[in-house]
Amino acid sequence: MQVLVIASQKGGVGKSTLAVHLATQATAYDTRVLLLDLDPQGSAMEWANRRGDRPPDVSGVNPASVGKDVERARAEGYGLVVVDTAPHADHAALQAARAADLVVIPCRPSTFDIAAISATLDLCRLANKPAVVVLNAAPVRSRVTAEAEEAISDKGGVVSPVVVRQRVAFQHCMIDGRTASEYEPDGEAAREISRLLADLGSSKYASGQATTLATRKRVA
Ligand SMILES: Nc1ncnc2c1ncn2[C@@H]1O[C@H](COP(=O)(O)OP(=O)(O)OP(=O)(O)O)[C@@H](O)[C@H]1O
Ligand SMILES: [Mg+2]
Repeated sequence: MQVLVIASQKGGVGKSTLAVHLATQATAYDTRVLLLDLDPQGSAMEWANRRGDRPPDVSGVNPASVGKDVERARAEGYGLVVVDTAPHADHAALQAARAADLVVIPCRPSTFDIAAISATLDLCRLANKPAVVVLNAAPVRSRVTAEAEEAISDKGGVVSPVVVRQRVAFQHCMIDGRTASEYEPDGEAAREISRLLADLGSSKYASGQATTLATRKRVA
């Protein structure tokens, strides 16, 4: 079983959007998926209520019990647990990170969001867990994405090669409890999520084989 914790101390970067999309995408692969909503705002729970009975299973949990909830999911035979966390919640995010195999940090390619990323990277180091930054809501054609990767790498962050772009499908679909791929099956948003899920499932992050851009440059 893999545990992906979606965390960022910064608000509005796409934690809940990526959490519901990754969890739902994984159900397409014959895996039982559990989405745990640790955020008192309850965005994932609200989405699940609009969605009805369709998978993934979604449960609102208290950060203090996340470790136990993850272990229960393992015992119940889930193949993937995705945890959506709240912004500005150091202690709760740390508890979630401790239960993670990989912490996924969404980040918009903007100066303010990049500046805020160190706090989340520090939290992952404190939890002694691998982390990967996912550039989210990136403009379709712009140099800011490459610049953002460089800036994050300078802070010691590993960046996923899969970039999630700013796409209306990610917003529209949430209104009635769908995902972008259910709203627009052959759309770019669906393709990005499927590629991102595959990338996050790779062992390179946990094994430390995914190096930062800065390290790759030093080696080259
Ligand atoms: N790739 C994207 N393209 C377009 N809109 C996006 C994308 N990712 C997120 N959004 C939009 O950005 C807003 C914030 O996203 P979301 O709620 O997922 O962020 P969050 O990090 O969970 O926020 P919070 O910190 O409040 O929990 C939402 O309106 C969402 O629809
Ligand atoms: Mg959220």
